[in-house]
Amino acid sequence: MDAAYDTPVAAQVRRSTREPDRENPARISGGYVLGSPSMRQRKAPSATTISRRRRSLPVDLASFGARPTSRAGEFLGDRYRIEGLLGTGGTSNVYLALDTQIGNSVVVKQLNREGADNEGIRERFLEEAEALSNFQHPRILHVLDFAEPSDGPPYLVTEALIGETLASLLGRQPLLPMSLTLMIARQTAEGLNAVHARGLVHRDIKPGNLFLLGQRGAPFGLKIIDFGMAKLSDSNDASAAQTVLGTIEYMAPEQTMADPVDGRTDIYSFGIMLFRLLAGRLPFQASEGFDLLGHQQFSPVPLPSWFHSSTEPHLDAIVTRATRKHPDNRYPNMRAMMLDLDVAFGLCEGEPAHAGLVVDPDVYEPQNQKGREVAELLAKRWATLAPIGNERSERDAASLLPRLKTLAPDVADSADFEPLSDDALEICEG
Ligand SMILES: Nc1ncnc2c1ncn2[C@@H]1O[C@H](COP(=O)(O)OP(=O)(O)O)[C@@H](O)[C@H]1O
Ligand SMILES: [Mg+2]
Repeated sequence: MDAAYDTPVAAQVRRSTREPDRENPARISGGYVLGSPSMRQRKAPSATTISRRRRSLPVDLASFGARPTSRAGEFLGDRYRIEGLLGTGGTSNVYLALDTQIGNSVVVKQLNREGADNEGIRERFLEEAEALSNFQHPRILHVLDFAEPSDGPPYLVTEALIGETLASLLGRQPLLPMSLTLMIARQTAEGLNAVHARGLVHRDIKPGNLFLLGQRGAPFGLKIIDFGMAKLSDSNDASAAQTVLGTIEYMAPEQTMADPVDGRTDIYSFGIMLFRLLAGRLPFQASEGFDLLGHQQFSPVPLPSWFHSSTEPHLDAIVTRATRKHPDNRYPNMRAMMLDLDVAFGLCEGEPAHAGLVVDPDVYEPQNQKGREVAELLAKRWATLAPIGNERSERDAASLLPRLKTLAPDVADSADFEPLSDDALEICEG
């Protein structure tokens, strides 16, 4: 026996299996005997053998959550065979495919026709490829290949993940257990920290772009996906300042107003996402996108504990700071937010840092002329949202009144409460 093969494990395997049929080694049925001459002499299968074998095996669409597609069987670059459809966005399609050279399932994201014909979109797609290339991090989707074929739209090949997006989980279960919220918050923070350390801004942090790994409902980790809108944070070029991209619900004021963005823009989106995880809903609800923009621009994000009373005050404070309107009033970077999260989750000792406002009041004034005009329109409309006298607000007020009355004695007892004397009132009014 070759000494290199004769390890204690090998010996155990040898004992637990039947001796091979020397006449016909292929008929060993009790498992392999490590170090048996027949095994060592067997030639390693060539790449073409692997691909031929794998080509005949069906890819399990269900375990990847993929749907059948009319493009199934089509080859991209003679190597990636499309198997199923994972998603269709406005500008690209995401397919589950088979890498016939290696034999692995992969994901191919390909621009659609309109996307490929639009210079700006095409450029952004190439930026996504560039942003992710050579970027290996446990919390970031890993890119394997990229091609710009002459006869079709460009495509990006990435690892295929098994699990589901956070959006899909929240669709079934709006409030997650605290331990899962902790894991999601901690790992998103780690991923964003790595993204920012590379000088990138993701620009579209939301539950649909966080992929939970592992069994549905019981994930063990997550990866940030969809860098379609990622941008170098120091690229202050005109296109960066004039294209509004992203998902309104999670968008920071500087992003909706088409001003330059940086890591603090992702911190805002992450803060809204944290709100959603803790409160079980989004902070603002409006039937019109325009009204939602108004809230994002002017209304402070409520405390998650107002919706879900068991939320820790520390977490309330973190959401408040992350979602302030002016970037200078938020966490300066992801590291600072991560430290506070760790304190709030009891992972390290101390008190979360309570920071006052750098820009007071917390208002974001757009830096570009068009943004200022839009903000002015939004402000006029926002000021009329849910006006007094509106049937709904009267109903809400009526239901609130009894609860406010029960609060009143506490207010009167407060040591900080100093009622003004009549004299003082007169001075104020005079
Ligand atoms: N690497 C991957 N592994 C498994 N599923 C993926 C992967 N990438 C994307 N998906 C699925 O495809 C959907 C769309 O992908 P995404 O990159 O977010 O594109 P879009 O620009 O359409 O939002 C995701 O929500 C997810 O369900
Ligand atoms: Mg997406």
